[in-house]
Amino acid sequence: MGQNSLRRLAGELKNFLLEQDEDEFIIPAAAPTTAAAAGVSRASEPQAMEEGSTLRVDFPRARQTQPAPQPSQPVQPPEETPLMTTAQKKAALTELAETIKQCSRCALGATRLNAVPGEGNVDAELMFVGEGPGYDEDRQGRPFVGRAGQLLDKMIVAMGLTREQVFIANIAKCHPMVDPLHPEKHGNDRAPNAGEIACCRKFLEQQIAIICPKYIVALGGVSAKALISDAKSLGALRGQFYNLQLDNVTLPRPVKILATFHPAALLRNPNWKKDAWKDLRMVMAELGLKGPAK
Ligand code: URA
Repeated sequence: MGQNSLRRLAGELKNFLLEQDEDEFIIPAAAPTTAAAAGVSRASEPQAMEEGSTLRVDFPRARQTQPAPQPSQPVQPPEETPLMTTAQKKAALTELAETIKQCSRCALGATRLNAVPGEGNVDAELMFVGEGPGYDEDRQGRPFVGRAGQLLDKMIVAMGLTREQVFIANIAKCHPMVDPLHPEKHGNDRAPNAGEIACCRKFLEQQIAIICPKYIVALGGVSAKALISDAKSLGALRGQFYNLQLDNVTLPRPVKILATFHPAALLRNPNWKKDAWKDLRMVMAELGLKGPAK
């Protein structure tokens, strides 16, 4: 076969692979769901992976990173796209959390003690997105409940809010471990890899679309890169708002996102706290928050 034919064949194969949908490995849900009824595409029911089967995942794409003009007024939802009601959001998020708890699309599903879907106020104007559960979160099935979580709680209070007023989630929903054979070990945390992030992307995107907060704070480089641009470092992404662009769902109204340091990084480097505080104050200014009542 000549070189041109080989090149054409390779091109056709590449296009064929690009056209495949990752859902080909997932059994679609039979019945319509609350979320679907409310206009949000539902999390597909994942099918447990069979031994020896391979899971194809789509790796995260770089996003457009055009800085959003800093809005002087809080973002108003366009009339024609009403948000879900509180009851609809609760039902959709509960259903999604159940799907996440059953998920075994990547290897983390086999080693987690508990999936950690996220928690908080379904009508929150502000959402925090961390990296992934650690030791404590894996045990409790709740996000940010360890040392980093205690610092996050303080950051939220310093903004004039409570944990109950915001929504907290992670990029990865299951505990990524350095040594998955020893989940009982401390200091066994690692960042989720690109495949794990890709597996969880739809879950997070659906959570964001359901809650539709006005602002998201991406905590740390993993979250900032996954949600804003994987082409830039946290340092390059900090300091400005971006219009959030999702891959799999349409947002009912624009959502702005700002990146800052992960609380665990602030515990290791307390001298970064003043810069993190600058970031949080940008969000406070947008939301009209004045900090805790004296
Ligand atoms: N670190 C995170 O990124 N998320 C958690 O839930 C806990 C620690």
